[in-house]
Amino acid sequence: MKAILYKEYGPPDVLHLEDIAKPAPKENEVLVRIHASSVGYGDILARKFKDVSPSEFNMPFPLWFISKFYFGLNEPKVKILGSEISGMIEAAGKDVTRFKAGDPVFGYLGQSMGGYAEYICLPENAVLAAKPANMTYEEAAVIPMGAIMALHLLWEKGNIQPGHKVLINGASGGIGSAAVQIAKSYGAEVTGVCGTARLEFVKSLGADKVIDYTKQDFTRSGETYDLIFDVLGRSSFPDTKSSLKENGRCLYASFKSRQLLQMLSTSISGSKKVICALAPGGLEDLLSAKELIEAGKIKSIIDKSFPLEQTAQAHRYVEDGHKKGHIVISVVAEEHT
Ligand SMILES: NC(=O)c1ccc[n+]([C@@H]2O[C@H](COP(=O)([O-])OP(=O)(O)OC[C@H]3O[C@@H](n4cnc5c(N)ncnc54)[C@H](OP(=O)(O)O)[C@@H]3O)[C@@H](O)[C@H]2O)c1
Repeated sequence: MKAILYKEYGPPDVLHLEDIAKPAPKENEVLVRIHASSVGYGDILARKFKDVSPSEFNMPFPLWFISKFYFGLNEPKVKILGSEISGMIEAAGKDVTRFKAGDPVFGYLGQSMGGYAEYICLPENAVLAAKPANMTYEEAAVIPMGAIMALHLLWEKGNIQPGHKVLINGASGGIGSAAVQIAKSYGAEVTGVCGTARLEFVKSLGADKVIDYTKQDFTRSGETYDLIFDVLGRSSFPDTKSSLKENGRCLYASFKSRQLLQMLSTSISGSKKVICALAPGGLEDLLSAKELIEAGKIKSIIDKSFPLEQTAQAHRYVEDGHKKGHIVISVVAEEHT
């Protein structure tokens, strides 16, 4: 089968097409014919992980350390990137009951990745579900990671309620673009913060207001929010505090020790809270995301679709700041799906 491999860390050019053996499913596994994958934050980070210092890593040092060993110190251990997929079940092992050959599916592969390939074998209990009926394979491939992270964090940790004023810092990314739509579906009034090139994208996701972080500091706008959801953890709590309403929450999807200490201190005193949380990224959240998609509450807005063999160009396009929406890696051309 064709796959995009990388055998050394580095710029997009380290990604190259190879012919490798097609995997065969074990008794509890399914073989998925991948139709599409995506380019996300994790793919770009993993591609150049050797050069990512603890300070550039948006999480506490122990997680950097663990990830460094997981992905490989000097050369990549995970050889095929791509953490989101859509595709069709081609074969199912004899113990598999959830899927059968011919089922269209979408899913999240987490850190084990493997989406930039024609086939992947996954255990039946992977984060894999029936593809939403109202989405193409390409549309379904760019949603899973962001939707399952945003769903868990907003719902379980953000205590989001209808009528809440919510600000999403990082609204144009994988998690933020889903968070904008999920917060709207809960009946919140949503302000999305992103860079200049992606303002229209965030508006088209349904944000009531958008703020360009290159031109305006949202903490100085005078607006106050029930919830500030900071995806990259770029805002500082002392600054955002004045932008929170009484009992407001600042929810960090990315955080360092400083925010963990602020979470501890605000849990003891004060009405405004800091919450740092990791989402499990599980099947339940993918199934909830599927329901929201089929109810028309979450959509994909695809900027560009690159064929598998142009994965390096796709990475370069994202890294150079050109993307204006979701980016697809197309493994099976859409007209054939
Ligand atoms: N807590 C968890 O369970 C969990 C799970 C998965 C991932 N994460 C973390 O989430 C992060 C990745 O999120 P993602 O996949 O959504 O990333 P992404 O797709 O790269 O999006 C990043 C977002 O941040 C925005 N941004 C960049 N610089 C900014 C700045 N200075 N101020 C404000 N916004 C800025 C980007 O805006 P523009 O592109 O428009 O400039 C974009 O909207 C990582 O740090 C990862 O560790 C956490």
